[in-house]
Amino acid sequence: MRYITTPIYYVNDVPHIGHAYTSVAADTLARFYRLLGEETFLLTGTDEHGQKVEASARAEGIAPIDLADRVVKRFQRVWERLEVAPDDFIRTTQPRHAIAVQHLFRALLAKGDIYLGQYEDWYCTPCESYWTELQLDTAGHCPDCHREVSKLAEESYFFRMSRYQEALLAHLHSHPHCIEPEIRRNEILRFVEGGLRDLSISRTTFAWGIPVPDNPKHVVYVWFDALINYLTAAGYPDDAERFARQWPPTVQIIGKDILRFHAVYWPCFLLAAGLPLPEQLFSHGWWTIAGAKMSKSVGNVVDPNQIIDRYGADPFRYFLLREATFGLDADFSEHALVRRINADLANDLGNLASRVLTMVQRYGGGRWPAAEGAAVALAGEVAATLEQWRDAMAHLAFHEALKAVWHLIGRLNQYVVENEPWALAKVAADRPRLDGVLRDLLEGLRCVALMVSPVMPGKGRALLAQLGTPELVAPAWGGPPANTPLGETTPLFPRIEIEPPVTGPPPTPAKPHSTARPPAKAKPAAAAQGGPPPAEPPAAPGLIPLDDFARVELRIGVVQEAAAIAGSDKLLALTVDLGEPAPRTIVAGIAQSYTAADLVGRRVVVVANLKPAKLRGVRSEGMVLAAGDGSGHLTLITAPAGPPAGSRVR
Ligand code: MSP
Repeated sequence: MRYITTPIYYVNDVPHIGHAYTSVAADTLARFYRLLGEETFLLTGTDEHGQKVEASARAEGIAPIDLADRVVKRFQRVWERLEVAPDDFIRTTQPRHAIAVQHLFRALLAKGDIYLGQYEDWYCTPCESYWTELQLDTAGHCPDCHREVSKLAEESYFFRMSRYQEALLAHLHSHPHCIEPEIRRNEILRFVEGGLRDLSISRTTFAWGIPVPDNPKHVVYVWFDALINYLTAAGYPDDAERFARQWPPTVQIIGKDILRFHAVYWPCFLLAAGLPLPEQLFSHGWWTIAGAKMSKSVGNVVDPNQIIDRYGADPFRYFLLREATFGLDADFSEHALVRRINADLANDLGNLASRVLTMVQRYGGGRWPAAEGAAVALAGEVAATLEQWRDAMAHLAFHEALKAVWHLIGRLNQYVVENEPWALAKVAADRPRLDGVLRDLLEGLRCVALMVSPVMPGKGRALLAQLGTPELVAPAWGGPPANTPLGETTPLFPRIEIEPPVTGPPPTPAKPHSTARPPAKAKPAAAAQGGPPPAEPPAAPGLIPLDDFARVELRIGVVQEAAAIAGSDKLLALTVDLGEPAPRTIVAGIAQSYTAADLVGRRVVVVANLKPAKLRGVRSEGMVLAAGDGSGHLTLITAPAGPPAGSRVR
């Protein structure tokens, strides 16, 4: 079984996009394995004990469990909205968990790995961590959060971590991939080589926790309590049969801030318990906002609900996994999110889907053509992408997996241009080839839909339904029988036209849009006349604000045909592919500089959102850009190879 875990989230916090990241990644991995037909178990939950929760509840005048119940609902609601679908949601306040924690505590006490002693050290209350003098930062504060620490002395139970230092080092050396990325493993190796101290695992200064068995004056330290959730959810200690099938975890996904707890304490507890260690711990990076760490106190945390409301769950999931390299930090901004939605989703994938489905409706009767005699020219390329995708997904390189899929999407768009189905449709003898090309495209798109489905479950399902192949199966070249009807075609990813608001700085300062012309000359400074100074210097004459320019939609087009227009020696009618379901007709005044034959295959730059106009009786749906040298000769502005037809030029 593939057992995949996220950390359990603190109920002293509220869900933000950092939490969403860990959960979306784990859910995507679980969906990937399920798609491949493997038995998979995804666990998430909430971490509900500790001094901070007790204090927050007291401040509100409510019981800690009531605070927890309220926050847990918020987490569960976000996971539902994000289609994060765990097989189990564990809460550390559940009786099954107290049983597991107390069982392990007793077992380790009995074998002498837990002993009662006296603890004295520097304690950071917000982090619930003890630090030695040497570990404090240069200001004598907590090395993690840099807040004040206080000297604390209390009777405490200790876990004999020092006993497991050598066994842990041996494991780290013999399992080179047990911690990923490698820099995190190296970090942990250095830390363990520096020596492990016994760990205080009980507290007497507050009560909101799991009581230590037979000594209820103590509650179990939150991290000892919390880490054991992974065992509880696998059936520990009583469901031996389930435990044997589920343990150990295949991958535990965490953020880098909780690496040490998971990479040092946790394996030592398991070694002491004589249990197999997790196969892999993957530590991802942080999402920052304008370069700064997200935190409640800075007030820059982003609520995933807000992002889902504006852009939908799937585009958000896609962005999280495509924008960042899993393992490294990345900066979150809605500008970057909108860019990805418009370029990757609306333009690349959305346009490919709509043009292929429209062509099959138009030229193929809305049904899958037969495979016999079909071109199947794409089978090899799709198989290669499938292999890259599978390999990258299994290594949690989500960004690489998506890159490979988008490369295939580009290739499919190019395949449309190369094969010109609209031209094949005009010649009866070309029917078999047309069928082959359409089937290739449908099948390529079906594989794409399956490959994106772990990341974007809703859109994956929608695209598969539109293709008439709703089955979520392991992607492999094949496809349904001939004559399978397509589903109903609806746009998958509407383009986002609005300026994204709140999060992240805009790429350039945007000024309010105004149609008024700027003054031809700067007026004398108002201050000299006794009035208030102008807010900003007036713009130079003729300059337009950035958002005026942003309204012009420039796109790459590929010329498919060019023909003279009767009665004009200047105009040519071009048929241009803009990555849309059907090519456009664009009239261009370039007949004196180019012959029709010169133009076919050229990659031109098109003003794509110009109001259509009739020129010499021909309706023109855009304009191609050309440069004049003053002599009347025009040179078309052409685009380099690479971005497919329809790509936005900025
Ligand atoms: N309760 C502990 C985990 C106990 S597991 C036995 C905890 N909870 S948390 O709610 O603070 O964090 C949960 C996860 O969210 C962690 O993986 C953490 O790294 C991740 N993130 C919190 N903020 C983050 C970002 N800004 N960016 C990316 N992930 C971050 O720690």
